[in-house]
Amino acid sequence: MPKTDYDDFAAAYSADNEVNLLNGHYERPAMLDLAGDVAGRRILEAGCGSAPLAAALRDRGAIVSGFDRSTAMLDLARRRLGEDADLTVADLAEPLPYAVATFDDIVAPLVLHYLKDWTGPLTEFHRVLKPGGRLILSLNHPFVYTALNPDGNYFDVAEFSFDAEHAGHTVTYTIWHRPLQAMTDAFTAAGFRIAAISEPQIAADTPVELRPQGVEHPARFISFIFFTLEAI
Ligand SMILES: C[S@@+](CC[C@H](N)C(=O)[O-])C[C@H]1O[C@@H](n2cnc3c(N)ncnc32)[C@H](O)[C@@H]1O
Repeated sequence: MPKTDYDDFAAAYSADNEVNLLNGHYERPAMLDLAGDVAGRRILEAGCGSAPLAAALRDRGAIVSGFDRSTAMLDLARRRLGEDADLTVADLAEPLPYAVATFDDIVAPLVLHYLKDWTGPLTEFHRVLKPGGRLILSLNHPFVYTALNPDGNYFDVAEFSFDAEHAGHTVTYTIWHRPLQAMTDAFTAAGFRIAAISEPQIAADTPVELRPQGVEHPARFISFIFFTLEAI
């Protein structure tokens, strides 16, 4: 299956991500909640895209760095954070260009599921985190794979595709599903302790017109799963 290349739709994705339900009123507020008080903390965002999360963390007093494999997304990030921001083109599938024990926290929103092999990326995250540092990540919820692929086997590690619309632009995403236990096994094998698994609600201030309609619990729906891990 062709890889999802954000260079192809960077501007549409970034504009939509600011205001849509899934990113603007669900994923990003949940990450900020999980991160808590970040004042003075040195934070790396993996797959930072156009850096709306990094900007929000910086506004809360964090010292932020970011990397992404898409140069178009990083151009947008530079426009947002300024030319002197610490932003690097790098691929999570390769060794990361940071020294041992550099960061207090790493945030990795919706990026790890683009990779089949998590061993290298998680080992690299552990290497560049200070001892006791946090890795906070969000992923497509494993339940979503079986909802979209009724014939698929939940217990397989399987690549699958789905379409989404961003500012009038249809994008085909291709990501890897893995069952919950494969996720938690990978985290612990890389030297992380699982501090929390979260299935958050949408933000309380989500505009009515963006709230999921016709469902029993409009503030609570399954799309992403969040982990807060601690490097031991
Ligand atoms: C869902 S977007 C999230 C963007 C941003 N973190 C946010 O919250 O708005 C995923 C980002 O991960 C990047 N990405 C995907 N695979 C990557 C990889 N192997 N290495 C680095 N970045 C990657 C994409 O280019 C994209 O910018």
